[in-house]
This record gives sequence, C-alpha cells and structure tokens, in this order.
Amino acid sequence: MSLPSYESRGPFPSTRLRRLRRNAWSRALVAEHRLTAADLIWPVFVCEGQNRREPVASMPGVERLSVDLLPAAAANAARLGIPAIAIFPATPADKKTEDAREAFNPENLICRGTRAVKQEVGEALGVVADVALDPYSSHGQDGLVVDGYVDNDTTLDALVRQAVVQAEAGCDVIAPSDMMDGRIGGIRLALDESGFERVLTMSYAAKYASAFYGPFRDAVGSAGALGGGDKRTYQMDPANADEALHEVALDLAEGADMVMVKPGMPYLDIVARVKQQFRVPTYAYQVSGEYAMLSAAAQNGWVDRQQTALESLLAFKRAGADGILTYFAIEAAEWLAAE
Ligand code: PBG
Repeated sequence: MSLPSYESRGPFPSTRLRRLRRNAWSRALVAEHRLTAADLIWPVFVCEGQNRREPVASMPGVERLSVDLLPAAAANAARLGIPAIAIFPATPADKKTEDAREAFNPENLICRGTRAVKQEVGEALGVVADVALDPYSSHGQDGLVVDGYVDNDTTLDALVRQAVVQAEAGCDVIAPSDMMDGRIGGIRLALDESGFERVLTMSYAAKYASAFYGPFRDAVGSAGALGGGDKRTYQMDPANADEALHEVALDLAEGADMVMVKPGMPYLDIVARVKQQFRVPTYAYQVSGEYAMLSAAAQNGWVDRQQTALESLLAFKRAGADGILTYFAIEAAEWLAAE
C-alpha cells in the first residue's frame, strides 16, 4: 500500500525533523545545551572525627567526611574540573543550642573544613558556605525563635556574624539559605565593612518550603531537632511563582552576585523565569530528596543511574541554569570525562 499524497498538508515530506537526529555527529552539531563539569557545584557534608566516612542512609552513595579527609576530596573535585564545593556541617548534638552560637565559632566544622580545603587547593576551587542556623540550633530552625516564631530581625544579627566568621575562615562564596528578609543586604554591608568586599554572595533567593529536603536534614542531623515543625513562615509556598521573581529582584538590589532556585527538578519553571527575567548568574539546587529518588530507583534497577542523573542535570542547563548544586557532582564529572 502506498502513502497517500501529502502535497497539500503542510511541510511534510520536504521537512523531516528526524533527518538531523539520524546520526550522532548531526545530533552533536545541533545540540543546543551541553553539560560540563564546570557547571557543577558539589555539596559535601563534614563531620567530627579522624579518617571518618559516615554513609548517609537516605542518600545512598553520599558520605559525611571528617575534616582531615576534606582536602583530598576537594583536590579530586578540582582535578575533575568542578569549580566549587559547598560545605555543610553535621554538628554534634552537644554543640546545638537554642541560640545556635556554634554558627559563629571560628573553630566550627565549616571554618575548620574551609581552612583545610583552602590550604590544599588555593584558588583552584571555590568554597561555598551556607548561612543559616539550622545545623547549629537545638530546634532545627534556620533562625532564632522568639515566642514560638522565627524572628527575622534578631536572626539577622546572628546571620551577619556567621557570614563574617566564615569569610574570615576563607570562604569564597557566602550562600544565605535562611530566607530571612533583608539578609543579603545586611551580610553584604558587614562583609564590606570587615574588608571582605571581594567575597561573593550566592543567595538562595527562591527557596521553597519543600519536603524534598528530608534526607539533607538526616545528613546534618537537624531533622530530629525540627521534629514535626516546618519552615513555612519563612521559606516560600510551592504554590507561588511570581513571588520568586520578587525575591530575586530584592536580593539583587541588596547586592547578591548570584541567585539560586531550590529545589531543582520540580521547580524548573522558576529557574527558567528567573533566568529570562533577570539575566544574572542563576543556579539550581538538585536537593537531597531528588538525589534520593533517583538513587533509590537506580538501586532497584528501575532506572539507569548514569543516564537519569546526566539527563536531569542537562535539563537544568536547558531551563537556563548557569550551574547546578548536585550530590551527583563527582560521579557526573567522572562520567563526562569518560565520554
Ligand atoms: C539549610 C539548608 C537546607 C538545605 C540546604 N541548606 C535544609 C533546609 O532548609 O531545611 C537543603 C539541601 C538539600 O536538601 O539537599 N537551611
């Protein structure tokens, strides 16, 4: 049976989109986006102890590393072409207090980890440090609790202190993840006044109150502290999108060098809108729950780990992200190097 005539029914058969998809070389030639190791930021959990690697149960393949193991891990990331790592502390329970004062102890895990890494890698790798109180607070909230409410303005003082202590330890990028109003401006001013005008800020500008952070809270040990509590009085409502643009606009006005959207995959619409609207360096965080989902499915043999991870990371680039914080960073860089 022969095909009917399509002559009067549009561009087919002269136009056939499958023509360019036929060969690997032509697919490569027309690829609009590419993922490289330079797009990745590796979040690393650091813990107390010596020569210690603690697996994070809800994040198969992810380990907390003691400070002494961090320099070699960081050097490996740099060797793979990863531009920056983000260090997160698993603070021992006996150092967590109501006022989270461990956050501005120059000997806390972040500061020791940063000094160790910077001594090893120098300028070859950027060190990003979160600003927020949750890894240090006995209640697991990102800010100070006054009368049962996370109080914005008293929290700002603590965050500013935390940021300056981290800059003193050698952090290259201060990344406030707390979602208090006005923190970017406050931190920028304090950094400048303390002689750290070259230290960058990457704002978790559009950070949603998400259930996808669950495994992270296990990793830093803040889940138990938080109990049944949530962060909805400061993190954004997943129902909102325009509000994310408002957040980004304010953080840029307050001096943010880079902005972030978090979580990642369920929020690619936000990544795309932020990039289109502001045209500034825009990052996405593929968070712990996203990593856990892909890892669990791969462990069950239901999806291919490498292919799904690389596809998800490429999707961030397509949405407009300039880079991605991902727990797959090391593996992804190795896969890309092998390709
Ligand atoms: C701390 C912080 C969180 C994450 C990054 N920084 C947890 C939270 O806000 O509860 C989550 C990262 C992840 O889930 O991978 N404020």
